[in-house]
Amino acid sequence: MFEQLASTKPDAIMAVMAQYKADPRDNKIDLGPGVYRDDAGNTPVMEAVKSAEQILHTTQDSKAYIGLVGDKLFLDHLRDLAFGDISSEHHRLTSIQTPGGCGALGLAAQLIRYTSQASKILFGLPTWANHGPLFQAAGIEIESHQFYDADLKKVDFESVVNALLAANAGDVALLHACCHNPTGSDFTLEQWQEITAICNKKGLIPLVDMAYQGFGDGIEEDRQGIRHILQNVEEAIVTVSCSKNFGLYRERTGAIFVLTKDQSTAKLVQDNLCSFARHSYSMPPDHGAAIVATILGDKKLKGIWLAELNVMRERIINTRQTLAAELGADFKFLQQQRGLFSLLPLSQAQIKELNSTHGIYMSPDGRINLAGFKHTDIKRFAKVINSL
Ligand code: LMR
Repeated sequence: MFEQLASTKPDAIMAVMAQYKADPRDNKIDLGPGVYRDDAGNTPVMEAVKSAEQILHTTQDSKAYIGLVGDKLFLDHLRDLAFGDISSEHHRLTSIQTPGGCGALGLAAQLIRYTSQASKILFGLPTWANHGPLFQAAGIEIESHQFYDADLKKVDFESVVNALLAANAGDVALLHACCHNPTGSDFTLEQWQEITAICNKKGLIPLVDMAYQGFGDGIEEDRQGIRHILQNVEEAIVTVSCSKNFGLYRERTGAIFVLTKDQSTAKLVQDNLCSFARHSYSMPPDHGAAIVATILGDKKLKGIWLAELNVMRERIINTRQTLAAELGADFKFLQQQRGLFSLLPLSQAQIKELNSTHGIYMSPDGRINLAGFKHTDIKRFAKVINSL
């Protein structure tokens, strides 16, 4: 029976990961998946995480199920980290712990599907390679518009505004909170304010995906758009991932937050989220969330974690500056953009040549992960790019 299955199209990012792994060259460069690396090319376990794990090792006395909602302490700490103080909205904000950001996006898709069959999700393109397949798998209609002006190397805000103005009440607008994947181009606060006003005017639901808080300009700066939205709209969905900023990739740690019009609707939404979860993965994994709750609940550990995150962010910003300087005036945009990613204006043939001739791997759309460079790689990479 199974032979009847249609063959699958490999995920672009996963495919690059496999190609890089299979390449035997010593000087290969991995600019593929969005994983932070230090200058030695490693993704070490953060010190704060190690300390939290030691605490858990001695204090955790059970591995019994955590329950469908997850750990309330984790959810409260993550809410305060992701949004700052929005206590005036807490009564109408609900959440559940999820297996990573993807788990949260999966629940968001179910929520949209069960709330209204007629709703579409608006995608600014390009977006993360898994956004499309994920919402398609849930049967949600996607309507796309241009988010990024590839000539000017910045957000095409006019196109975003026009798309939102043309949408129908109940449609969902997918937005990246910060460190846009794959372009590195974010909205300014004024643009967030305009988006919020349009969502209110047109009855649109913002769905903000937050996967890189702290990798852009800082914890506070990276949450300014999301905060503005949550303090000014009636309904919104936020998906949060702890994979990158806590380095907990394989622990699958995240949450979905939903802002509703009142407390009783918040309870209804949470019950539905629990039911969607129960029918798919059931209970969320605990270990990563327990680590995050331990770090954020301990002043000293939180300080250590923030200092480590600052080092990571500064390395990315320095790499952007060094690379822009090596590549010349046409690549100044690298310095203005934020987070792990930027899109390089390369053709498919050039990207193939970078793989095969030079052992340099990036996503097939030309997305590079800036943290994939060791300091010593940058000169060689710039030389190769300038010779294409
Ligand atoms: C990426 O965009 O490379 C990361 O978010 C990893 C992934 O799962 O795609």
